Amino acid sequence: MDDLVTTKRDGDIAIVTIDNPPVNALGHAMRTELHAALESAKTDNDVHAIVLACAGRTFVAGAEIKEFGSDKALADPNLPGLIALLESIDKPTVAAIHGTALGGGLELSFGCHYRVALAGSKVGLPEINLGLIPGAGGTQRMPRLVGPERALDIILSGKPIPVEAAHKDGVIDAVFEGDLVENAIAFIREKAEGGETVAHIRDRDDKLAGWKDDPNRFDAVIAEKTKKSRGLDAPIAAARAVKATLTMDIDEGQKFEREQFVKLVSGDQSVAQRHIFFAQREATKVPGIGKEVKARTVKKVGVIGAGTMGGGIAMSMANGGYDVAILEMNQEALDKGLDRVSKTYDISVKRGSMNEDAKAKRMARLSGTTTYGDLGDCDLIIEAVFEDIGVKEDVFGKLDKIAKDGAILASNTSYLDVDKIAGFTGRPQDILGTHFFSPANVMKLLEIVRGGKTAPDVIATALEVGKRAGKIPVVVGVCHGFVGNRMLEARSAEAEDLLLEGATPAEVDKAFRDFGWPMGPYQMSDLAGIDIGWRKRQARGERAEIADTLAEQGDFGQKTGKGYYSYEDGRTPVPRSETQDIIERVAGEKGVERRAISDEEILERTLYPMINEGAKILEEGIATRPSDIDVVWVYGYGFPVGKGGPMHWADQHGLSKIVERLEHWGKATGKDVYAVSPLLKMLAGEGKGFADYQKERA
Ligand code: NAI
Repeated sequence: MDDLVTTKRDGDIAIVTIDNPPVNALGHAMRTELHAALESAKTDNDVHAIVLACAGRTFVAGAEIKEFGSDKALADPNLPGLIALLESIDKPTVAAIHGTALGGGLELSFGCHYRVALAGSKVGLPEINLGLIPGAGGTQRMPRLVGPERALDIILSGKPIPVEAAHKDGVIDAVFEGDLVENAIAFIREKAEGGETVAHIRDRDDKLAGWKDDPNRFDAVIAEKTKKSRGLDAPIAAARAVKATLTMDIDEGQKFEREQFVKLVSGDQSVAQRHIFFAQREATKVPGIGKEVKARTVKKVGVIGAGTMGGGIAMSMANGGYDVAILEMNQEALDKGLDRVSKTYDISVKRGSMNEDAKAKRMARLSGTTTYGDLGDCDLIIEAVFEDIGVKEDVFGKLDKIAKDGAILASNTSYLDVDKIAGFTGRPQDILGTHFFSPANVMKLLEIVRGGKTAPDVIATALEVGKRAGKIPVVVGVCHGFVGNRMLEARSAEAEDLLLEGATPAEVDKAFRDFGWPMGPYQMSDLAGIDIGWRKRQARGERAEIADTLAEQGDFGQKTGKGYYSYEDGRTPVPRSETQDIIERVAGEKGVERRAISDEEILERTLYPMINEGAKILEEGIATRPSDIDVVWVYGYGFPVGKGGPMHWADQHGLSKIVERLEHWGKATGKDVYAVSPLLKMLAGEGKGFADYQKERA
């Protein structure tokens, strides 16, 4: 025995303590000892009540992810067996929760009569984030505690809930300050002495009663709550399992839950979601930035430009607890920007995701100015002015004069050369790109662009600030568009030709949605504004005939009510005959022969070039590893998480098929985007995937 579980006594109360660092995960060895400890507390006649607690920094944080897919995960004693053992104990039992009780950890506590928690702790069922559902009775016991509707919310959100809120829900019976175990002992002693013990959760059904008469009434709840699950299987499986509490007894329900879990765990989607989960952690490991590189201290952040991005970036920084000074060209623009920030917070307050107090705290961290000198005490200054190298030169020239020594100067540029921007200052070691995504207060991705001369501690600081601001940072190198936008350009290379050759915008968009994207490229253009691409092309002396014709006639998309689609109600895209007329006219002028275009062809001509570009990005060292690219696409561009990102998907799909079709389309169109990357060709030739490439280089 490794003493992963110990039992102590306080009078007639047994305190069973799990001590399996770092997070008391439910590995096989720990389960074995816990089973023995509970069994002996159960049968010991001198024990009249049991406290189940954990040593270290947290209660059981969840399953042992390392055991996933191995025989050990399900070997006896398994988690359902432990919970069943707890439920066979008549003496009052209480789980004492501190830190986080997530997934299997919370399910374990459901075996106890009561759950008490240390203030500030969190509980939750995060399985959905890995494409799974709770697999040890969570879907059966949570509804019995809080009712099926609230249970489904908790399971579908996958978010940890503060125990104070969980107490209101009824998941937690009491919240304590001070010594948790002492309090738990006092709590359970009172129950034992009072002879009052609630029924085990499995035997309660008061929260289900209102639904049980007509379980199908729950279908409307399911439809509403899963409508945004975009082709993912786990949310549907979770909803069905919760509904099972209304139609089956708990043993049948648990069997049903188990079947759903087993199906999901070996399915492509969960494999992909687990890939992204680990990819996100991996992305923070940056070559040359070890633990010995200390981040610089950041307390105050300056933001230049209070437009679309500047406002959102300022909010992210305020959310991260930083003081923020926003600089604009004039008072009017500044007032407008700050007003938009305030209104955006109001929306969160209205939705209930933030209270007035939290809003006030964040607004108090924000200040505005029109004078560069006021940014002299900033530790980090992020520029989000117009995408124009002349404007950037002017701004960085000014920043170089006023910023204090050691201040970090960052650009939010989408495409411009960060090394060139660094050259506008006399301190290139302090310059980098911080590329946020719109809306910057919401989108998780942060591309950290490492310039040729950026100092390691500047990168370390950006990683730390990004994390504190709630972002998922990925470090990338300098090139046109970095990782995300460069691949997006490859994805868009065929956008006009697909239309000219015969596909309609609605057909292309539908093929994208069927793949799992939240929307297709033309819906996206209409939402972002066709004028944005049009202006960019004008600046570069380029032309996209269909898009630019729409833009020239003032059809910018949703904001003007017309674009590729028309928007009679302001939001719903309706195919437009005028767009079709433009397409057919241009096709006629260019002599393009029109034909039916299959969904498969649409995907081949959009996704494959993007994967090819991803391979080139790896060859050039712009991204450190394939899984970093997947993180960029899932968190910055809505690549379907159930497919794990473009590089993971490419592996699943087969690289040799992709190479063969790229060569085919290269011949058919003569376009550069189809010139197959040597890396992609090599991997395909060796029968390998990007995952193999990553493993070999790790
Ligand atoms: P925007 O036009 O909404 O805002 C730019 C703001 O900068 C304006 O409020 C303007 O008054 C201010 N400004 C311009 N020159 C200034 C100066 N010299 N001093 C102080 N303020 C000045 O533009 P947006 O969309 O916020 O873009 C800003 C930057 O972020 C650009 O480099 C863009 O490429 C990049 N970006 C934009 C994204 C988007 O989706 N809009 C996404 C990611 C990056």
